[in-house]
Amino acid sequence: MKKMNRTILSTVALLIAALVTITNAAEEIFPKEALPMASGYLTIKEKPGAQMFYAYYEAIEPALQLSDRPIVLWLQGGPGCSGLIGNLYELGPWRVAQDLRLHKNSAPWNRVFGLLFLDNPIGSGFSVAPTDQDIPSNQEEIAKDLYSALQAFYDLNPLFKSRPFFVTGESYAGKYVPSLAYYMVEQLEKGGFLRIDGAAIGNGFTHPVVQVQAHASVAYAVGLIDYQQKLYLESLQEEAVSLTTQHKWNDARIARNRVLGYLKNRTGLATLDDMRRTVPYYKFDNGTDYLRLFVNQGGVKEALNAHPTATWVSCRNTVRRRMREDIMKSTKWKVERLLLKIPVLLYQGQFDLRDGVLSTEDWMRTLEWNGLAEFWRAERKVWRVSKVQAGYVRSYSNLTHVVVARAGHLVPADQNLHSQVMIESWVAKSLATSAVQ
Ligand SMILES: *[C@@H]1O[C@H](CO)[C@@H](O)[C@H](O)[C@H]1NC(C)=O
Ligand SMILES: *[C@@H]1O[C@H](CO)[C@@H](O)[C@H](O)[C@H]1NC(C)=O
Ligand SMILES: *[C@@H]1O[C@H](CO)[C@@H](O)[C@H](O)[C@H]1NC(C)=O
Repeated sequence: MKKMNRTILSTVALLIAALVTITNAAEEIFPKEALPMASGYLTIKEKPGAQMFYAYYEAIEPALQLSDRPIVLWLQGGPGCSGLIGNLYELGPWRVAQDLRLHKNSAPWNRVFGLLFLDNPIGSGFSVAPTDQDIPSNQEEIAKDLYSALQAFYDLNPLFKSRPFFVTGESYAGKYVPSLAYYMVEQLEKGGFLRIDGAAIGNGFTHPVVQVQAHASVAYAVGLIDYQQKLYLESLQEEAVSLTTQHKWNDARIARNRVLGYLKNRTGLATLDDMRRTVPYYKFDNGTDYLRLFVNQGGVKEALNAHPTATWVSCRNTVRRRMREDIMKSTKWKVERLLLKIPVLLYQGQFDLRDGVLSTEDWMRTLEWNGLAEFWRAERKVWRVSKVQAGYVRSYSNLTHVVVARAGHLVPADQNLHSQVMIESWVAKSLATSAVQ
């Protein structure tokens, strides 16, 4: 009897020791202070079994009481890339480095805002699509799924409903951001109750038929291709334009890939995301994705409340394939509607060859909006942060354009402080005045 008790006791002691070890290991990978305030899955009521992964961080140094404190939603591009790229590599409070550890971000986007990351569309990151058919194939479906997930988020946090809400994102989110914001504006007009206070797009892909024509000029101007190559690249661009105007969406997508492929091939660049980089974002020199190595550790999924058996990839091909007919379609018309209703910020890192400054300015010139002439008449000002030249700002009424100096495709990864100052002052409606020379 005594002996058995002792055996039980020592087994219990061993179990506890094992548990403590596991907990410590998880804590080491993911320090307690780095945990989101909440994370896990949001349901989409129209799609039984679908789950959208989210991570929410409250403001670190809140300047306003909770009911007035803005919430910023961040959407990743792709299509098919996970919001954890933004979270753990760009603008979140803790970021992964090559040592596969989390380091405190000295200038995250949740300094004075609540910050929400979603793995959108379902099928991306940790989000669950019951079948491939449940993965959206167009912007309208994406907006509806996002809206449902937001409703689930507010159901969990009813007190958040009064808080100003800003939709932001990058790259292919140049389509998601206007699509969701426009859907929210429409819902509001139909008596919906979710707030929408502004939309911001970083290095966005919004109006492909114009944007696909910018690559040759940009690459030639900075010496990355010669005149003959420029002429050839222009002919490839024209093919993509022609197929787009014929609404041959899949062929147009393939033609655009030829443009990007030729550019990459002839320039020999490691990535089109930033002409300065010798290694792509979140990769080791040998090409291994270190964000993927970090996120797939057991302790990380546990800490984030993700399904423990899920395999995380930064960008998922299944989603990209489902969205193939969407790639060359435009959402510029939604930006035009938004400009009549809410502030819109378009910002680009200066060294991006994918969706950069010229690429954006070219389609901005084609905007049909009654404020456009005034916008271009407004002076483009040098933007300084603590006396350091941070880029350029032009703003009129609901439209603001920012060029971010010394940044590529992933602006917050390259310029965390300047991107933080930018988003905070834009939300506070002071970017065009106070921060500018
Ligand atoms: C470009 O493509 C050709 C084949 O089409 C290949 O021979 C060449 O090595 C490529 N150049 C670069 C820089 O990748
Ligand atoms: C790439 O480099 C990293 C870090 O040096 C290393 O951990 C990894 O095993 C390497 N992968 C390959 C495929 O060589
Ligand atoms: C900007 O948005 C406001 C609503 O916030 C609207 O009243 C105004 O007409 C818009 N301005 C322009 C030039 O479209």
